[in-house]
Amino acid sequence: MAKVKTKFICNECGGEFPKWFGKCPECDQWNTLIEEIEQKGSKLSSAAAVGLSKPVTLQDINLSLETRLKTGMDELDRVLGGGIVLGSLILVGGDPGIGKSTLLLQLSENIGSSGLRVLYVSGEESIAQIKIRASRMGAASSNIYLVSENSMDNVKHHIGNIKPDVLIVDSIQTVYSPDVTSAPGSVSQVREVTLALMSIAKSSNIATFIVGHVTKQGAIAGPRVLEHMVDTVLYFEGESHMSYRVLRGVKNRFGSTNEIGIFEMGDVGLTEVKNPSQMLLSGRMKGASGSSVVCTLEGTRAMLVEVQALLSLSSFGVPRRNATGVDYNRVSLLMAVLEKRVGMQLGNSDSYVNVVGGIKITEPAADLGIIAAIASSFRDKEIDDGTIIFGEVGLAGEVRAVNFAEKRIIEAMKMGFKTCVIPRNNADKLASIYDIKVIGVQDVKEMLDIAVGGK
Ligand code: TYD
Ligand code: MG
Repeated sequence: MAKVKTKFICNECGGEFPKWFGKCPECDQWNTLIEEIEQKGSKLSSAAAVGLSKPVTLQDINLSLETRLKTGMDELDRVLGGGIVLGSLILVGGDPGIGKSTLLLQLSENIGSSGLRVLYVSGEESIAQIKIRASRMGAASSNIYLVSENSMDNVKHHIGNIKPDVLIVDSIQTVYSPDVTSAPGSVSQVREVTLALMSIAKSSNIATFIVGHVTKQGAIAGPRVLEHMVDTVLYFEGESHMSYRVLRGVKNRFGSTNEIGIFEMGDVGLTEVKNPSQMLLSGRMKGASGSSVVCTLEGTRAMLVEVQALLSLSSFGVPRRNATGVDYNRVSLLMAVLEKRVGMQLGNSDSYVNVVGGIKITEPAADLGIIAAIASSFRDKEIDDGTIIFGEVGLAGEVRAVNFAEKRIIEAMKMGFKTCVIPRNNADKLASIYDIKVIGVQDVKEMLDIAVGGK
């Protein structure tokens, strides 16, 4: 009997090796190599070689005018770059229970009621379970075809029969191809099934959504390779105990990334949040110290967010420091700037910094607002509640210009704020244009004198 040949595949990067390693030689991750039986040439690769394609020039390619499908949800359309591109492969990743299936079922309902066909393949839930969710959300389109299926061969069969415009596979880890011997969810399986879906999507012009589970480290289970293969990667994020969900584009061949869509999970599924600033500022307590409002930019969208800080005398030798929604190291750096450049003695204080609403701020434009919140709590002096503060802070305590200052100011104006404290370089260019007081500051000290009651 011929010996069965095996190989080892890395669950993270998809690298293949003839023998086992504790640490993957390609991506340096530990314990990610899994043994799999070697296939004698995948069916797909040989099939691809048969159908020889014909090269065409750019001028000869005709794009029909209506190549993008509207999803009926502006938040989703924006993240996708203006709607679904037909024939594209879209990966939707996220933690279990975050609402991926709910989002896609809602999408199916919208597409279905616009007269197009949707095939929803669920490898995780039974038809009855999906029906329960659908009736809760009021989804009842007769153009949605549901099937509970795990075999890729059967899925192909259903696609052939139903000829959907949009296909949803929930989730990729539960669908397997019988041609590959390894278990569903393994790298080879996920890769094989995705390749098969890709070739169907491109040849039949079916927009395909793939749900992918996220591992503990936060990557889509197993294969990074999956992200390389698809056209668009969306992550659905949020704290499971909060009702807000953020849909984030991380890769998009048909639009800009870094766009976000905000949703709220309620009793009847997800609702779009059209005015995030209003939502994020809604529970704000007026007149409390340690609270500042910053304007952060997510993609093309300006959002007002409240940053809170609480400093209290530490009862231990080493003070506690905690940051939620902003980078911990960035907060430490900003506190060091306050100590060194302003002379604020923070060494004996426990400090907690929190961005309200479960939002994560990654851009440095929030620096000045964070500093203001910390100083406000330390001095126990509140910041005027009609003021927003933003700007990047350098190590010398200088306030540096940020991009899209104008957009941020307009958002503040829309939300009824009266004063903006911003970098001097930005202010010089637009101080007198708007019906809102714009104050330019050069360094942290100047900002504190203006916004946090001086010394
Ligand atoms: P689900 O879409 O199943 O998550 P995923 O597919 O990402 O695993 O969403 C599950 C969660 O959403 C579940 O905890 C219940 C909650 N939920 C609501 O709060 N309201 C609703 O209307 C629906 C359908 C779900
Ligand atoms: Mg699900």
